[in-house]
Amino acid sequence: MTASFPERRLRRLRKNEKMRNLVQEILLSTNDLICPVFVQEGLKSKTQVQSMEAIERLPLSELTREIEEIKKMNIPAIMLFGIPEKKDDLGTAAFAENGIVQRAITEIRKSFGDKIVIMADVCLCQYTTSGHCGIVRGSHIDNDSSIQTLAEIAQSQAAAGVDVVSPSAMMDGQVKAIRERLDKNGFTDVGIMSHSAKHRSSFYTPFRDAADCAPHFGDRKTYQVPFTNPREALREIELDINEGVDIVMVKPALAYLDLIAETKRRFNVPVSAYSVSGEYALVKGAAKQGWINETDVMTEILYSIKRAGADMIVTYFAKAMARHLLDNP
Ligand code: PBG
Repeated sequence: MTASFPERRLRRLRKNEKMRNLVQEILLSTNDLICPVFVQEGLKSKTQVQSMEAIERLPLSELTREIEEIKKMNIPAIMLFGIPEKKDDLGTAAFAENGIVQRAITEIRKSFGDKIVIMADVCLCQYTTSGHCGIVRGSHIDNDSSIQTLAEIAQSQAAAGVDVVSPSAMMDGQVKAIRERLDKNGFTDVGIMSHSAKHRSSFYTPFRDAADCAPHFGDRKTYQVPFTNPREALREIELDINEGVDIVMVKPALAYLDLIAETKRRFNVPVSAYSVSGEYALVKGAAKQGWINETDVMTEILYSIKRAGADMIVTYFAKAMARHLLDNP
């Protein structure tokens, strides 16, 4: 044989579609997807979120129809976000018995039983006048009173029938405070998926339009993880595990694939990744210009998050991806 011919030919494995299917290593399934749902108190009809094409805020009356659609696509879980009619200093609408999220949970549970996993965001920024994720005292965000309020929110959601609470406030000790409160009140079966390594990110901007939760002063740098500190991010994850978390999360996803991989390698808990609003906006924006193929890029990104090690992905593409997977088995 002439020396110029390659002896190892990986192209044999890429010969045709069936062969490629046979050797496919990573599989993305509709079972990996968590679909965010925004419900707004006092809303008359569905409202398109300006900065997030195809994402809507829903009135309670539209909720059942939306969940039905999600369930039909074999998506196993939703993540509820609420937008209240009134905000106040203590974010009391977040734990009101008849709060928007509590009513949404009750309604979904009533209509769907255990046919969909109900997850709900546990945070204060949509509910406080400050727009911060904790209670403001003077000019700082008070950690220790905030975690009690977060526990109160979790308890109220548990009473409404939530399956998994998902604290996203990045207050120290939030998982422990929530776990203790849930257990003390008999909600031992309610799980916690913490936004464990939630970074201070500029990728959240479109979400703040969707959920009306931009901070009115300052920023979130005193509580969210700096994107320069991967070891600190892993400490956050370790602490949450020590505090009794059920599922950890890395957030955002696409610019943090290294942390998803490292989390998967180091710890034996399920790993979720939150592909955030800015990641969605980048794809939508470029596709709108005709610069990329939206479906192909969406698919590649979600596969890369799975490949990095995510067991599940919260994504605004959940419905689009599920539709694509169902149409292309
Ligand atoms: C608020 C919260 C944010 C997101 C989820 N929960 C915004 C923030 O921290 O400013 C961002 C999600 C997204 O961008 O899709 N606790």
